[in-house]
Amino acid sequence: MTTGTRKDTVWQLSSVSEEFLEGMRGAIPMAAEQLAVMLRVVQAAQPQMRTFLDLGCGDGILAQALLAHYPQAKAVLMDFSEPMIAAARRKLADYPQTVFLTEDYGDSAWVQGLQSVGSLDAVVSGFSIHHQTDARKQAIYREIYHLLKPGGVFVNIEHVAPASEWVENQFDNLFIDSQLAYHQARGSTKTRETVAQEYHERPHKEANILAPLETQCAWLREIGFAHVDSYLKIFELAVFGGVRPMAS
Ligand SMILES: C[S@@+](CC[C@H](N)C(=O)[O-])C[C@H]1O[C@@H](n2cnc3c(N)ncnc32)[C@H](O)[C@@H]1O
Repeated sequence: MTTGTRKDTVWQLSSVSEEFLEGMRGAIPMAAEQLAVMLRVVQAAQPQMRTFLDLGCGDGILAQALLAHYPQAKAVLMDFSEPMIAAARRKLADYPQTVFLTEDYGDSAWVQGLQSVGSLDAVVSGFSIHHQTDARKQAIYREIYHLLKPGGVFVNIEHVAPASEWVENQFDNLFIDSQLAYHQARGSTKTRETVAQEYHERPHKEANILAPLETQCAWLREIGFAHVDSYLKIFELAVFGGVRPMAS
C-alpha cells in the first residue's frame, strides 16, 4: 500500500472500495446517461476501436460498458487499489483479452506500464482523476494525449468543482435523494437524515480536489485536444474530453 500524507490512498482499503461499489456507485445521479454519452463519443471518434484504457477503473464499470459494444477490443484496466482490481477481474471475467494493471497514476512513471500495450484508441476515466492536484491533473491529461494515437479519444466522467455554494447544495441534495431512493428500492429503512450523514461523512470525501469544468476543458485545449466540450453536465457531475487530432 502507498504510504505518506496522501488522502487518495483510502481507496486502497477494502472497506472503502466495498462501500463505494455497494453503497454509492449505483446511486450516482444520471450514471446510465453518463455511460451512454461516453459510449456515443467514443463510437463517433473510434468506430473500429481496438485498444482502450480505463484509468482508475474501480470495478471496471466503464470498461464493461465499452466492451458490451466492442467485445473484441483489448481493454486495459488500471487502478492502484488491489480490492478494486479484484472486483474488476470478477466483473470482466468474460473478456479474457483484458489486461489488469496495478499502477499509481499519481506518478508519471505509470505510463511505462502501458508501453507493452502500444498506442491507444481511447482512454476513459470515471470519478478518479479529481484526487490529484491541479498540476498533476494537467500532467495526466498530457500523458493521456501522448498515449493516444492520432484520432484517439479521451472521455472523463468526473466530479468537478461547483460553481457556487448554492450549486453545491443542489448537488448534495440531488445525491442524497438519489442515494435514498437507491437504498429504499433495496429494502433499506434508513431515513434521509441517516443517508445525508453517511454522504457527508464518506471516508473518501477528503481525497477530493475538485477543479472547475471550464478550467479543465481549457487545459485539454492547451494540450492540443480537439472537439473539447462538456458533453453532459448536472451540477458537479460532468462528462468531458476531446480527440487527439489526426495531424499531431
Ligand atoms: C470513485 S472510484 C471510481 C471507480 C470507477 N472508475 C467508476 O467510475 O466507478 C475512484 C477510483 O480511482 C482509483 N484511483 C484513485 N487514485 C488513483 C491513482 N492515483 N492511481 C490509480 N487509481 C486511482 C481508486 O482506487 C478507485 O478505484
